[in-house]
Amino acid sequence: MALKVWNESMSVGVARIDGQHKGLFDMINELHAAMMEGKGRTVTGPLLKKLMKYTHEHFSVEEKMLETAQFPGLAAHRKYHRDLTDHVDVLAARYERGEASVNIELLSFLSDWLTKHIQGVDKGYTQWVKEHGVH
Ligand SMILES: [Fe+2]
Ligand SMILES: [Fe+2]
Repeated sequence: MALKVWNESMSVGVARIDGQHKGLFDMINELHAAMMEGKGRTVTGPLLKKLMKYTHEHFSVEEKMLETAQFPGLAAHRKYHRDLTDHVDVLAARYERGEASVNIELLSFLSDWLTKHIQGVDKGYTQWVKEHGVH
């Protein structure tokens, strides 16, 4: 069972970004499924790496879009992204060193963070990007 799937209520009004948000949930769910099936680090390791890489890419695409649109809340938005990536980078490094494993807490944390961020922060740029954005 998936932890969380993207739905229309999460739409930020930009197809490319919605697609990336969907992709992020898909990757979290893929990792969750692998974990539930008891797959080992040879499977979860690359999936975790893929998720981290995609998260970084998504944030940078989103920030570039907001930069182009000269969104006034960009600095604060960037800070949310930075805080999350700092946090997951630490976790990923601990995972690499064998000090941590992919567990349900990590996946729930990511899925909750993403849901709250999309609903509470990303949706905050919808109107602005619609009016000023090139996307
Ligand atoms: Fe964001
Ligand atoms: Fe986003």
